[in-house]
Amino acid sequence: MNNLFNNKVNRKNTNTYKWDFQTNSDNLPFWIADSDYKTAPCVIEELQEVSKFGVYGYNQVPDKFKEVICSWYKKRYNADLNKEWIIPTTGVILEIRLMLEILTNKGDGVILQTPVYHTFHHVINGMERKIIENKLIKKHDTYIMDYDNLENLFKQGYKVMILCSPHNPVGRIWTKEEIEKVISLAKKYNVFVIIDEIHSDLNITNTKFTSGADFISMYDNIVLCNAPSKAFNLAGLCTSYIIIPNEKYRELFNKQVDREFLNSPTVFGYSATIAAYSNGYDWINAQNEHIKNNYLYLKEYLNKELPNLIVTKLEGTYLVWLDLSYTNLSTEELLDKCNNAGITCSGGVNFCQDYESYLRFNIACPFEQLEEGLKRLVKAFK
Ligand SMILES: Cc1ncc(COP(=O)(O)O)c(C=O)c1O
Repeated sequence: MNNLFNNKVNRKNTNTYKWDFQTNSDNLPFWIADSDYKTAPCVIEELQEVSKFGVYGYNQVPDKFKEVICSWYKKRYNADLNKEWIIPTTGVILEIRLMLEILTNKGDGVILQTPVYHTFHHVINGMERKIIENKLIKKHDTYIMDYDNLENLFKQGYKVMILCSPHNPVGRIWTKEEIEKVISLAKKYNVFVIIDEIHSDLNITNTKFTSGADFISMYDNIVLCNAPSKAFNLAGLCTSYIIIPNEKYRELFNKQVDREFLNSPTVFGYSATIAAYSNGYDWINAQNEHIKNNYLYLKEYLNKELPNLIVTKLEGTYLVWLDLSYTNLSTEELLDKCNNAGITCSGGVNFCQDYESYLRFNIACPFEQLEEGLKRLVKAFK
C-alpha cells in the first residue's frame, strides 16, 4: 500500500490553497496542513456512488455518522463514547468559537499552550477574548507542559483552556499521564478544557493515542473536537464533530447552532466520514508508515546537511517543527530564503512570538516531493 502514497497527484490549478495560493505558485508547498495524498480508496468509491445519485437536496446527518465515530474511538483509541454526546458540525474551529461564546465573555482569558496552531490565536483575538499563554517547555528536541505555571493560571481564575492533542506544531502525542495531570488540575480549579483531537489518527509511534474521552468519568467539563479531515485529507468537505458529554453544555451548543442557522455537514461530508471510519483503518496505518519513513529521512538528511538545525521529535501530526535558532534570522527572513529556494513553509512566529527562527514543515507528500523540498531547504540555509 506504501506506493499509494508515492503517487504524485497534480493539484496545481485546482483552487487548492496549498498549491495555488502560495506567495509564489511555482514553489513546492510544505506549509498548510493538508496532505498531498489521495484519500482512502473506500472514501473515493463512496463519494462516486453519492455523486452518481444526482439529487442533492436538504439532508439530515444519519445516526450511522455517530455510530461509526463511536466504533472508531473504541477501535483506534480504546475509548468509550455515548453517541448522544456527538454533534455533527462543519469545522473544528467553528466548534471552538461556539464553545468560547458559551464559556466566556469579552475580555476573558483563554489559556493556550504556545507555540500552538495560529488559528487559535486568531479566534480568541477575533472574539475580543485574551490569550493567556502557558508556554510549553522546550527540552532540546521535544516539549513538555509547564504544570506549575498552568496551576498558577488556574489559581488566578482563568476558566477555559484549549488543549491541542496531538499538538500542532511541536508534534507531541501527550501521554495518558500528561493528559490526566491537566484534567486533574482542571477539576481542582473548575476549569473547562476544550480538547482539539483533529490530528489523533496521525500517529507514528507504537503507542495508542490517548483521547480526552478516557477522563470523562472523572470530569465532564470537557469537550472533544475532531474531524476526519486531517487524517483522510478531507478538509474541503467541511465535516467535523464535537463530543460534549455534559448535557447542559450540549444543550447550550445546540442552541448556538440554531441561533446562528448553522448548516450541518453535506451528504458528501457525512458519507465520506462513514466510509472512512468504517473501512479506512488499514489505510490510515499505511499512511502513518509513509509519514514515519518521510520523517526518518528528513531527520537523517537534515542532521547530516544542516547539523545546527534541530529537528523536533515527531510523534503525531505530519508537521515537523524545525529550530533554526543558530541562524539568528527572523521568521520573515527565513520565509524569504525558503521562497527564493522555491519552497513554501509556515513561519514560527505565527505560532508564538518567541519562535522567530522556526519553521513548520509539512511532510505528508510523496517521497520524491519531500526529497526535492529538502534539497531546496538545504540550499537555502547551507
Ligand atoms: C489543531 C488544529 N485544529 C483545527 C484545525 C482546522 O480545523 P477545521 O478546518 O475543521 O476548522 C487545524 C488545521 O490545521 C489544526 O491543525
